[in-house]
Amino acid sequence: MSKRRLIVIGAGGHAKVVVATLQAAGRTVDGILDDSPTLVQGSVLGVPVIGSTAYASKLGDCEAIIAVGDNKTRSLIAETTKLNWTVAVHPRAVVHPDVRIGTGTVVFAGAVIQPGTGIGAHTIINTGATVDHDCTVGDFVHLAPGSHLGGGVTIGNGAFVGIGAAVLPNRHIGEWTVLGGGAVAIRDLCSLSIAVGVPATIIGRNTAAYGNDSLGEQHNVAQHIHRIKSIFIGPDDPRWYGVLKHVAHDVYHLPSYVAVWCKHQGGQALAFYAEDGDEVCLIPLVRRQLPVKLEAPHWWCDLVSPYGYPGPVYSRPEDTERSKRFLDAFIVAANDLGACSVFLRLHPLINDEFRVPAALSSLTTQGATVAIDLTQTPEAMWRQTRSSHQYDIRRLERLKFTTVTNDWSLYADFIRMYRQTMSRIGAAPDYCFPSQYFMDLKAALGDNLHLCCVISPEGRPAAGGLFTGAAGIMQYHLSGSDEEYHRLAPSKLMLHSMRLWAKQHGFTIFHLGGGVGSQQDSLFQFKAGFSDERHEFQTSRIVVNERRYAMLVLRTGLPLDPDGDLKARYFPPYLKEFQNTFLG
Ligand SMILES: CC(C)(COP(=O)(O)OP(=O)(O)OC[C@H]1O[C@@H](n2cnc3c(N)ncnc32)[C@H](O)[C@@H]1OP(=O)(O)O)[C@@H](O)C(=O)NCCC(=O)NCCS
Repeated sequence: MSKRRLIVIGAGGHAKVVVATLQAAGRTVDGILDDSPTLVQGSVLGVPVIGSTAYASKLGDCEAIIAVGDNKTRSLIAETTKLNWTVAVHPRAVVHPDVRIGTGTVVFAGAVIQPGTGIGAHTIINTGATVDHDCTVGDFVHLAPGSHLGGGVTIGNGAFVGIGAAVLPNRHIGEWTVLGGGAVAIRDLCSLSIAVGVPATIIGRNTAAYGNDSLGEQHNVAQHIHRIKSIFIGPDDPRWYGVLKHVAHDVYHLPSYVAVWCKHQGGQALAFYAEDGDEVCLIPLVRRQLPVKLEAPHWWCDLVSPYGYPGPVYSRPEDTERSKRFLDAFIVAANDLGACSVFLRLHPLINDEFRVPAALSSLTTQGATVAIDLTQTPEAMWRQTRSSHQYDIRRLERLKFTTVTNDWSLYADFIRMYRQTMSRIGAAPDYCFPSQYFMDLKAALGDNLHLCCVISPEGRPAAGGLFTGAAGIMQYHLSGSDEEYHRLAPSKLMLHSMRLWAKQHGFTIFHLGGGVGSQQDSLFQFKAGFSDERHEFQTSRIVVNERRYAMLVLRTGLPLDPDGDLKARYFPPYLKEFQNTFLG
């Protein structure tokens, strides 16, 4: 008999039977772990609840068993907790010596398991369930009380066979399928089905196994996303540019932009690509690994938009219902990829009709942005320009300041002026890009990147700005001015000149963006002086998998409040103590 301490994880009703089973088998249970604050400090059949599951890593060398009835939760705990899993078999269960039983599995009183059968890990063979000869039962399965498997049945991982249900000999029940109480499966059932009745018929899809708990709502989601084909693709995949040929987009959607962002900020550049008949959807993303300190399984991750406005793009954005279906498919795919949460930066011009998906998600307005309609005449643009801006522009012109666009011999001057400006205004370190970033940006964006410099009458660069241009949209990216000239506000002449240049070169809109951190600050006021047109910069936060999310939040020692988290300034909360440069 083992001398190691024995711990049970979970303190609910199922745990009561697990503890009773262990005790009946002559084992002493030393303690119980549970994350529910109401259960901590209680006890189960005289065994004290000694702490939350986070405590497991501190227990050292002990044996443990997970006493949680829900298959998905049990699998998540097993994936994320490193303990020596033991097996609990009630002395009044009849298990043929030939039967192989995986670690973490429990067999309750009255259960019968016949020869030739193999039972996987962390599986529950509940009270009075019978498993006939030569069956194969997977991991994280639950055979509920009084359920019966005929000979030669195979049960996929994570499947649930309800109370009193039966499976005829040699049938197969797919992974994560739910067979309702009292049902009789007379045919094979494919993975992720929900089947009920005699004979069992499929009534839905078990998308709860994807991590969301509301079966009713998810059932609808599953039906409408069924025909959508989706995949995550890398920047070299021709489908990425292929989509962009047909959809309204911006520079932030280019694979080269996402790749260069990841090169400097970390993470893996990828895009969600989906087809629904002739229609397509693309979402540029960064896949970020979770900090080691969170001790998450290596394949869990978070998905975030790279900096800028790289929200989802669609071939038919006016079909808002279809766009929402694409997003629902995205969440299912993100879950398969291991994502816990998603943070999307939406495009103020392209994503103005964004509708949040069915999952636990939110839409947050970060702040206003300014845009100049380049289809207007230059005179109309001038009339919208604030009089103090007009005055400064005319003064610079009188003083013989000029502008030059795309003279890349001035790039080093621009970088110097940008850096000077960032240190003058005390900008956050996130904005102090290294020289290599500028080089890589130029190499990656090529003709999509524009440099405009203001030249003083003495022939010296007085201000400079980097602009991006793609698919008719010009964006104001970064700018700076020389220490000596900045009191003359040369950036005003730069923006004035750039709007005329952009119009001449066929751009239809010049988006100046908003203030720092989307505030209505002096930067916003400066931009607002060029145009009356306003847009909204919005972000969307999504909890992809509630159980993974909960586990990470609890691991960080924070209270679990997904609804509150979605409204908070910082998301996801479990990364708050680590840096996040992605919030705008
Ligand atoms: C199959 C099951 C998981 C479905 O749960 P659900 O998604 O919440 O489904 P609902 O209760 O909303 O029922 C959906 C429909 O299926 C029917 N249905 C549900 N369970 C059924 C069952 N076991 N047999 C026959 N019909 C069933 C409902 O009547 C309802 O039909 P309707 O739409 O015509 O009104 C659940 O009913 C079940 O059988 N669970 C077994 C529980 C069990 O064995 N527990 C043991 C723990 S130890």
